[in-house]
Amino acid sequence: MCGIVGYIGPRTAGSMLIEGLKRLEYRGYDSAGVAMMDDNGGGLQTRKAKGKIAMLENALVASPLDGNVGIAHTRWATHGQPNECNAHPHTDCKGEIALVHNGIIENYSALRKKLQSEGHTFVSETDTEVLAHLIEAVYDDTLEDAVMDALRLVEGTYGIAVVSSKDPNKIVAARKGSPLLIGLGDGEYFVASDVAAILQHTRQVVYLDDGEMAVLTRDGYHVNDLNAVRIKKGVSRIDWDLDQIEKGGFDHFMLKEIFEQPQTIENTMRGRLVESEGFSKLGGLNLSKEELQHIDRVIITACGTSWHSALIGAMMIEEHARIPVSVEYASEFRYRNPIVTERTLCIVISQSGETADTLAAMREAKRRGAKTLGLVNVVGSTIAREDDGGIYLHAGPEIGVASTKAFTSQVVALALLTLKLGRLRDMSVVKGREVAQAMMKLPEQVQEILDRASEIEKIADEFDHATNFLYLGRGFNFPVALEGALKLKEISYIHAEGYPAAEMKHGPIALIDESMPVVFIAPHDSVFDKVVSNVQEVKARGGRVIAILSEEEPSLEGKVDFEFRIPKTIDMLYPVLAAIPLQLLAYYIANKRGLNVDQPRNLAKSVTVE
Ligand code: AGP
Repeated sequence: MCGIVGYIGPRTAGSMLIEGLKRLEYRGYDSAGVAMMDDNGGGLQTRKAKGKIAMLENALVASPLDGNVGIAHTRWATHGQPNECNAHPHTDCKGEIALVHNGIIENYSALRKKLQSEGHTFVSETDTEVLAHLIEAVYDDTLEDAVMDALRLVEGTYGIAVVSSKDPNKIVAARKGSPLLIGLGDGEYFVASDVAAILQHTRQVVYLDDGEMAVLTRDGYHVNDLNAVRIKKGVSRIDWDLDQIEKGGFDHFMLKEIFEQPQTIENTMRGRLVESEGFSKLGGLNLSKEELQHIDRVIITACGTSWHSALIGAMMIEEHARIPVSVEYASEFRYRNPIVTERTLCIVISQSGETADTLAAMREAKRRGAKTLGLVNVVGSTIAREDDGGIYLHAGPEIGVASTKAFTSQVVALALLTLKLGRLRDMSVVKGREVAQAMMKLPEQVQEILDRASEIEKIADEFDHATNFLYLGRGFNFPVALEGALKLKEISYIHAEGYPAAEMKHGPIALIDESMPVVFIAPHDSVFDKVVSNVQEVKARGGRVIAILSEEEPSLEGKVDFEFRIPKTIDMLYPVLAAIPLQLLAYYIANKRGLNVDQPRNLAKSVTVE
């Protein structure tokens, strides 16, 4: 999704802005641009390009900019084609104000008409351009006053950064519904929509909240609301290391992140699992023992991969804590009339902590009186700051658009929560210990699977020309089938569907022929024998079967075309192990098809628009 970076300080802004944009590439974009106050008397100048940042770099080589105040943007088109004209920054009629924007201005059409009737000339099809003209229209004294006056007229969501040649030593940034933070360097200041853009330069950041505006000058910064009332903000320190946002010898971030999972799973559990007692310590829940016991209903809401982990979490909690759980697509939740009481716990799962639909669902659940609990990876993200309590995943930055390590950490965090809720209810210490012991083995077992990645690569060799895939699983592994299918379609553009294995005979079986690969997730759990029957139904119709089996099962040789073994664990934890070969399969197939695995077409890392 769109990215913002800005710089003011003694250094040359251009290279830093470009480098910042490159760090944001993973979020997905279709054009990029930069605006700088030119030190050689050129005033405010912009350069923009359609396509990759390299195209913007070419534009800057052809027509260089020099200066130490600037803003830059990667755009993911919402209103108007991805082209140079619609790329940000957008400027006012005189080219004295330049602005970058993430979000959507909902009343842009009315504002545009009004501004046009007052003589403003628009050059793009975007909603963003109205902001530049609006600031121009109300400009009187300082840039920040004009931005405040303009934003009071705006409906919608925004994270913006603005510069002006009329007030040249300043960047004004404001936020409503779209993440923005200020980076504090040594005598220099940054603004960014994502910490990755500035991590190379500083770890000290100030997160802006909705309704806040920051004014950055060469001498400092301050934050106020849109009525100019100053707000005292805390400074947060980012723990992520630079090497965590670099590829570290891997061809792609996705592959690196798949291989990081023994460590990331360990990190999710660290200090939280009390094996001997069979329970978990979760410091951030902000719920007393009595409050946890008072819960009579759980709603888990999320999108995409996080929604798949939610399905797994629901089964774990119902089975072991005996609390009724429903799983809701975040995008649907607030448009119906869900039953929420003060005894409802709403668990919100989001890698980024910024997904607009998930954030809106959490706010709705809160408004209806539920306690909210965020399972979030990105520290300091909006969901993490607005939830009532949370469990950070501690999986480190996930740069690949296809979520991998966040998924396994989500499942592990849900297992920790299940232990907590279960042991406060019916779960015996013996059962708790069994779960805890199985969890402790996961990092090593994931490593064992990764050590055999070449086996999956060989299977992938057989299928890179497939046009359809079916993924089937039952029980805890049905959501894994959904996740395997999502991974494949996201990065390889092969049509793939996940189904509960027994549902196949109610429709999808019509698709089975020799050109249809079917992936069965069939570890030796309580429904294994049933799944074997489903395998036979596929083979009887000529389908090609890839089976993910666990090590204690007899071979299905003759019944399946390819087998991949995963280590033995308890039923509720098989999703963690079974997901790994499916992630690898998607990766190798997409890579063999020569696709951009880390930045698949049309996708954004975090979807911050509704
Ligand atoms: C996962 O591979 C996807 N890119 C996507 O479905 C993602 O999981 C979804 O957009 C939710 O993101 P979040 O976890 O950051 O909220």
